[in-house]
Amino acid sequence: MYICICNAVTERQVRACVDAGATSLGDLQFELGVASCCGRCGPTACEYLPGGRASSVCDVRSIAVPVSQPTAVIDAEQPAANTASLARAAVG
Ligand code: FES
Repeated sequence: MYICICNAVTERQVRACVDAGATSLGDLQFELGVASCCGRCGPTACEYLPGGRASSVCDVRSIAVPVSQPTAVIDAEQPAANTASLARAAVG
């Protein structure tokens, strides 16, 4: 599909440019010439930039999840061992 009719720039070319590091409309204009004639393709081209609706770039800011240590290990096979394990956990 063509994104920019004036300069015959395709969606594939825009995606490749973004995958190569383009992060702004200025980058796409410089590399591909989109939005450099009539400008009607500018908003559509911006949708392919990171954070846009058509972006293939994952914009994960943080995936850190706090992990706590287990306070006690429950042993289903030896219930008597659980008392000692829970007592150790309660003491710290
Ligand atoms: S459609 Fe892209 S500059 Fe005209």
